[in-house]
Amino acid sequence: MSVQDLHKTYPGALEPSVSGLSFSFPRGIIAGLLGPNGAGKTTTISILCGLVRADSGKVQVFDLAQDVAHREAIKRLIGIVPQQIALFPQLTAVENLVYFGNLYGLKGKPLRDKIDEFLLRFGLEKNGHKEVYKFSGGMKRRTNIIAALLHDPQLLILDEPTAGVDVQSRNLILQFLKDYNQQQGVSILYTSHLLEEAQSLCHEVAVIDVGRLVLQGQPSQLIQQHPECRNLEDVFLHYTGLAVRD
Ligand SMILES: Nc1ncnc2c1ncn2[C@@H]1O[C@H](COP(=O)(O)OP(=O)(O)O)[C@@H](O)[C@H]1O
Ligand SMILES: [Mg+2]
Repeated sequence: MSVQDLHKTYPGALEPSVSGLSFSFPRGIIAGLLGPNGAGKTTTISILCGLVRADSGKVQVFDLAQDVAHREAIKRLIGIVPQQIALFPQLTAVENLVYFGNLYGLKGKPLRDKIDEFLLRFGLEKNGHKEVYKFSGGMKRRTNIIAALLHDPQLLILDEPTAGVDVQSRNLILQFLKDYNQQQGVSILYTSHLLEEAQSLCHEVAVIDVGRLVLQGQPSQLIQQHPECRNLEDVFLHYTGLAVRD
């Protein structure tokens, strides 16, 4: 996927949220779109998915341009796990997942089998019939990830999937992403402000700040290019300074 010279200012906003951003990632890898709060990560992936319109710039998902003609095709190729949990709290996990499966035209036993398989894989097999409002943050997040996987997307996009989850859930999610990428060849785009987490998960990263690209490349190479830096966070701070962000 790629974005080229992307610009976005929300209506009424004084500053642009994305300002001349370009990056590209090859198919089949785990890619990280990283940066501090307010950097423009959610805005950028919303544009990639076709949920938010850019003011200008080119967006491509695999070899399809994100435009009116391809919006539906791209929607089927993508599975998106939003930053905010999007589940019906009064429904059980299974009821939620049946609902999301139905949206993609999945139904009956094939859908139920798939839901059971993913519940097991995400350690939720004993909680499928519990209402989601009773779930911990980690359980909700795992359920929300399953909702994005039922239609076998070719590109899985996750917006800060480890925010607000316990250590065990976090480990399970990160291990799942590595396995899923390796076994199914599914491309993954993950956003995070946690550079250390991304360093070990991602094959390639784009680090952004105030809507602009700061760094792009393989984490190990970016670190090697800066002998004074021990990790990706050091490299990021090398370019952006230590000033705290709002
Ligand atoms: N719907 C919106 N309307 C106005 N400003 C927004 C909206 N969404 C995000 N912003 C602003 O755009 C900037 C980038 O936000 P966002 O893309 O959510 O960043 P990130 O996901 O990296 O934290 C922030 O300054 C944020 O306040
Ligand atoms: Mg965000």
